[in-house]
Amino acid sequence: MRSYILPLLAAATLKVTALPANEAKSEKRAVIDWTTAYQKANASLAKLSVGDKVGIVTGTGWQLGNCVGNTKAAGSIGFPSLCLQDGPLGIRYVNGVTAFAAGVHAASTWDIDLIRERGNFLGAEAKQLGIHVQLGPVAGPLGKNPMGGRNWEGFSPDPYLTGIAMAETIEGMQAAGVQACAKHYIGNEQERNREKMGSNIPDRVMHELYLWPFADAAHANAASFMCSYNKINGSYACENGGILNKLLKDELAFPGYVLSDWNAQHTTTGSANGGMDMTMPGSNFDTGGRTGVLWGSALQSAVQSGQVQQSRLDDMVRRILAAWYLVGQDQGYPTASFNSWRIGSSNVGGNHKTNVRAMARDGIVLLKNTDKVLPLKKPKSIAVIGSDSVVAPKGANGCADRGCNDGTLAMGWGSGTAEFPYLVAPLDAIKSQAQKDGTTVSASSNDNTGQGASAAQNAEVAIVCINADSGEGYITVERVAGDRPNLDPWHNGNDLVKAVAAVNKKTIVVIHSVGPLLLEPYIDNPNVVAVVWAGLPGQESGNGLVDILYGAASPSGKLPYTIAKQVNDYGTSIAAGDDSSWDLFIDYRRFDQQKIEPRFEFGFGLSYTNFTYSDLAVDGKPSAGPATGAKIPGGAKDLWDTVATVTAKITNSGGVAGAEVPQLYIGMPSSAPQAPPKQLRGFTKLKLEAGAGGTATFALKRRDLSYWDSGRQQWVVPTGDFTVSVGASSRDIRLTGKITV
Ligand code: NOJ
Repeated sequence: MRSYILPLLAAATLKVTALPANEAKSEKRAVIDWTTAYQKANASLAKLSVGDKVGIVTGTGWQLGNCVGNTKAAGSIGFPSLCLQDGPLGIRYVNGVTAFAAGVHAASTWDIDLIRERGNFLGAEAKQLGIHVQLGPVAGPLGKNPMGGRNWEGFSPDPYLTGIAMAETIEGMQAAGVQACAKHYIGNEQERNREKMGSNIPDRVMHELYLWPFADAAHANAASFMCSYNKINGSYACENGGILNKLLKDELAFPGYVLSDWNAQHTTTGSANGGMDMTMPGSNFDTGGRTGVLWGSALQSAVQSGQVQQSRLDDMVRRILAAWYLVGQDQGYPTASFNSWRIGSSNVGGNHKTNVRAMARDGIVLLKNTDKVLPLKKPKSIAVIGSDSVVAPKGANGCADRGCNDGTLAMGWGSGTAEFPYLVAPLDAIKSQAQKDGTTVSASSNDNTGQGASAAQNAEVAIVCINADSGEGYITVERVAGDRPNLDPWHNGNDLVKAVAAVNKKTIVVIHSVGPLLLEPYIDNPNVVAVVWAGLPGQESGNGLVDILYGAASPSGKLPYTIAKQVNDYGTSIAAGDDSSWDLFIDYRRFDQQKIEPRFEFGFGLSYTNFTYSDLAVDGKPSAGPATGAKIPGGAKDLWDTVATVTAKITNSGGVAGAEVPQLYIGMPSSAPQAPPKQLRGFTKLKLEAGAGGTATFALKRRDLSYWDSGRQQWVVPTGDFTVSVGASSRDIRLTGKITV
């Protein structure tokens, strides 16, 4: 049997030194490099007993510790009991933290600086609370299916956009001192049957879509990965040597450790030899407490009997210690100061709400704006309608893990949630603006169509707020068991919009949603003059919305997914059993390939100003053939080399300041078999005053111009002409060029 632990066994053979250079970024970098971290880990490893080692890799058991996951301390080396805590948008089970914008909303800002800052603030709060490992960010689900219940915890079904967001978030978090955990690895694309189902993913699809953002996570020096519940090609993720040893630890040269999702471990030796490094929570949480322990003394016996090599146990521990050293947690790191099982108070939010406000605002995507009805200009009267316009009667935290949908939606439900410190609802924020403007506000804060219509009838403008929620499958909300059953708004939102639009000629629809919805019932209704896609904005929801509605800022968000005209256009469904329907064509890749007209395409978003594109220049080209470089975290080193630079001039040719997200798409030459017509390979966000111009610069890496050749098992740059398309969305291409290889 080939051993995949060898490349990392000895620090001497470790050629993983590169930390992405981001000197220009503001936050202080707290990380050392992996080589130094491994040297320290090796020195400490030598001092540990077998019992210590087993304690480090085995969780203490469900709810047997302050955090959702805990390990045993090893006093001889000053190694603490590690505290592992959710989650991707804020810290779970503590009051007084920040409820940030959800991942999908962060993605819709397309703003790398805000995404990085969000990660850094998340990490800073975790550190203050003594959390060693923060269980995020999320690249799986990627979003194969728009109905996937947890898509909103991650970023986008486009692997490039998700990959950038993963890397920026991880670097931001780890610079603050916490260990990031890239999850759920891999193929966990739905909630239905998630603990039993199999994802049978072809090798090329795995590489080009699902593995891609995890490669970015490894490249960003993520300390840890979480293996998922599902099977991949017949074997459970947390026991799957092909996924853990071969893809992650060998091909991606991941130096950190793999911890199991909670109860995702199935056997003692299979998981150890498959490449899992830490079991969480350490016991079976379905049976509670201390039973169902698959490692602990069972692992110790397996090592004694030779079923698991001593070197494998050492490798697990070395990885865990190295990750701890990597982010500097050996130096004065706080001890967990909260208890997950009795939610108490803290005060770690600081000024982090500035990031939430900026994302709430800049992640909003303006979809329709007839005759420039927005921004609002001191209307005489406004009606604000819908249960989504107010905080739920029970309060923003009225249901555990946000498992109800009774008021304005600002995050989904499940383990990826936080307690809101406060939640500014649309009506709250509109009322304060209205007071300044002398506008009369009438409200109907439920989803009753008759009441909504009567509130709207005599108002100059009617704002209808609707939503769609989803979450993790251990909670069922209004018969939705995680995944969405359809792409409609909840609570008959379409009827509410239609009832209001029937009586008010200036109806504005505001949508809070976990993912795409079908807008067909009203999108062409002439009385629906504006549609504001407000995503999942976190605690500053209403404030960000008012910034856009009243023009304090011009909208600059772009859709991180496609909004279709009908559900079948996505070509995917939630699988009843195992899922074998995986191909390269998800989201816009499919719409392009099948020539399906979307309602709003990937990357779309209106502004209050106009941008013109000019002066495309393409400089450089890669050599043809496979990447052959030495391995660094993320894969072959040359995959990460910049091989071509594309620039374009973007000018704000409208009347107000605004921000534009120019996007670069690559079309592969025909020598690359069956490649999607175009794939996102660059974006940037330019903030431009009226009349000002700026340069968008896209650095293309070798990986960006490669496809995965399953036969050769390599990333290959094909020969021929690559199409370079730069535009304002995936279908609004303004400039084209080519790269000939
Ligand atoms: C299960 C979820 O899938 C995972 O995301 C989470 O981190 C753990 N539970 C711990 O709460």
